[in-house]
Amino acid sequence: MNNWDDVKRRILETADLVEIVGDVVDLRHRGANFVGLCPFHTEKTPSFAVSSDKGIYKCFGCGKSGNVISFMTDYHGMDYSEAIKELARRYAIPLPEQTKSKKQKEQISKRELVMTALDESGKYFIKMLGTTSGKTALSYINKRGFSKETQKEFMIGLSPTGWDNLKLELEKKGFSDQLLLEAGLLVERDGGGGFYDRFRERLMFPIQDTLGKIIGFGARQLIDDKNQPKYINSPQTIVYDKSKVLYGLFQGKNEIRSKGYAILTEGYADVISLYQAGFKNSIASSGTSLTKDQLILLKRYCKKLYIVYDADSAGINATLRAIDLALEEGFELWVVALPGGEDPDSIIREHGNKLFQAYIKDAQSFVEFKYNYYKKEDKLSSPADMSHLIRDIIGNIVKIPDRLQHDAYISRLAALLNLSTRQVERIYKEKGKLESELAKSGKSTPKPPVEQQKPKVEDNNEIKEIDDNFVPDYSLLLTEEKLILKSMVLSSAVADYLIDTVEADDDRFITNEAKRLFHLLNGLRTEDDDLIKRIVSDETVHPKDVEFFSSLVLESNEISDNWKNFSKGVAVFDLIKPVMDSLIKLDLLKLDIELEKLTSKIKESLGSNLDLLVKHTELSQKRKELTNRF
Ligand code: GTP
Ligand code: MN
Repeated sequence: MNNWDDVKRRILETADLVEIVGDVVDLRHRGANFVGLCPFHTEKTPSFAVSSDKGIYKCFGCGKSGNVISFMTDYHGMDYSEAIKELARRYAIPLPEQTKSKKQKEQISKRELVMTALDESGKYFIKMLGTTSGKTALSYINKRGFSKETQKEFMIGLSPTGWDNLKLELEKKGFSDQLLLEAGLLVERDGGGGFYDRFRERLMFPIQDTLGKIIGFGARQLIDDKNQPKYINSPQTIVYDKSKVLYGLFQGKNEIRSKGYAILTEGYADVISLYQAGFKNSIASSGTSLTKDQLILLKRYCKKLYIVYDADSAGINATLRAIDLALEEGFELWVVALPGGEDPDSIIREHGNKLFQAYIKDAQSFVEFKYNYYKKEDKLSSPADMSHLIRDIIGNIVKIPDRLQHDAYISRLAALLNLSTRQVERIYKEKGKLESELAKSGKSTPKPPVEQQKPKVEDNNEIKEIDDNFVPDYSLLLTEEKLILKSMVLSSAVADYLIDTVEADDDRFITNEAKRLFHLLNGLRTEDDDLIKRIVSDETVHPKDVEFFSSLVLESNEISDNWKNFSKGVAVFDLIKPVMDSLIKLDLLKLDIELEKLTSKIKESLGSNLDLLVKHTELSQKRKELTNRF
């Protein structure tokens, strides 16, 4: 067992799932468990159950289940190692010394220093808003309509007038100029004569990573000055890669996940205004046009995207580019067309959120958007123009990973152009053939379809083996089988008793599903752990099985009154009896099946086969004995 497994084990032992889930869900005691509204889907009555002592959660509405680690990955969108690190930090579990080169270690400590410097700067800029020199900035903030709460949520601050305020402040705290330069906070004087503050007399918008740590700044001028750029952004640094960051994602990620879509805008101000107006699922690709990496990041949270860029030509070009990229990444895409000269911020400020909501509702598919764009640009009058549009749109359609959507978009396009679906389809097929020829000749390397990509376990490069054809059907399980499996999962003592003392094996069960699950449980037994904890933390267990066992453990108890006592930790003996009864019932059922077969064989042989008759008598006798045991 390596150190990381230790950390994971200690996290599962130490972390309080109710506390972690309780951060985002209002949990209420119910029996031995806690329940609340599921954070993974929208519901009005609580069906999300959390067991504190078992360390697992399960939603009886949407089926989501897991443990504290999967809650961090699935809900908070962290990757596996981020989750482990965050939980270790929270519960003060030391991380193993990693075997890293000296250079790597230096890089890591530098990253930390840079992050600390940025964090200190953020605090300093906020403090500056409260000073006398902050007055102008505050009145600017008021003019823009940002509330106190919003200011806090987005950590808006002020870089004061002067060349070295921040520099002096952070030098006092022990940061070297060299480090501040690397953090993007200072600029080197031409000719190398020292350093000065990059951000001066500007409203400061910290750019945060998905965990809320400041990694850079966007800075807006307070007074319109055409000789200065309206915005200055942090440069690329060791912690800030603008192509991989989405502004507003930290604040909006929960809303994005629960609404299922994000609103993509152009600027900081748009995100903030929208957030304040209740559209908390807004983001912007700050300081850059949208990139593939940003979309990959966003995919952790949603699969649907509304693009709301400005209506000017720069905005339209950015929209066209975003359409190409986002479709390829598999997003369902909607384009919101605002009137010329407006952006989301101005709409909200001048007309309120109802109007913005109406624009969202009126969003167009990319097919309609392109069609309207071509029409407006008068690029639809000749057959050549028309063919250009068709090829353009089909170029997008063929790149949508989910092929099932292709037909729908083709019909949409055909309808818009008053063509028959077949005419458009012909071009679609041509294009498809062309693409595959290009692929064959190696000119482009298409990605494998999504369903062929095996899920990866990120921490140790293991590939999780999941048989694509594996379709469990738990509804086949007999009540008795379910009861036995449930008892095993609830109590290691019962599992041990069944396997070691009773020597039950797969064949004691009747359905294949039960045989498989029993086999699985048998393989997961360890000395010190509850089986359910193993099940939810073992990566080799199929997620469907994790879900099934979790629901067995957390379900309200229809099977028997005895279950009420289980979670309270009542004696094992209370479990043994129903489990043994169930085993006998299974044996009986098996005998009945055999007897039935024998009976029909005996009938066939018209009673002439003595062996069959003897066997029948034997089995009947056995059955009687078993029945007497009740
Ligand atoms: P407001 O004018 O404050 O409403 O800003 P905005 O967010 O509406 O900005 P705008 O639509 O003009 O620009 C969109 C985004 O482009 C901004 O949020 C910035 O990220 C970026 N941007 C705008 N102006 C500049 C500039 O002068 N320099 C740089 N580097 N980026 C800019
Ligand atoms: Mn604006």
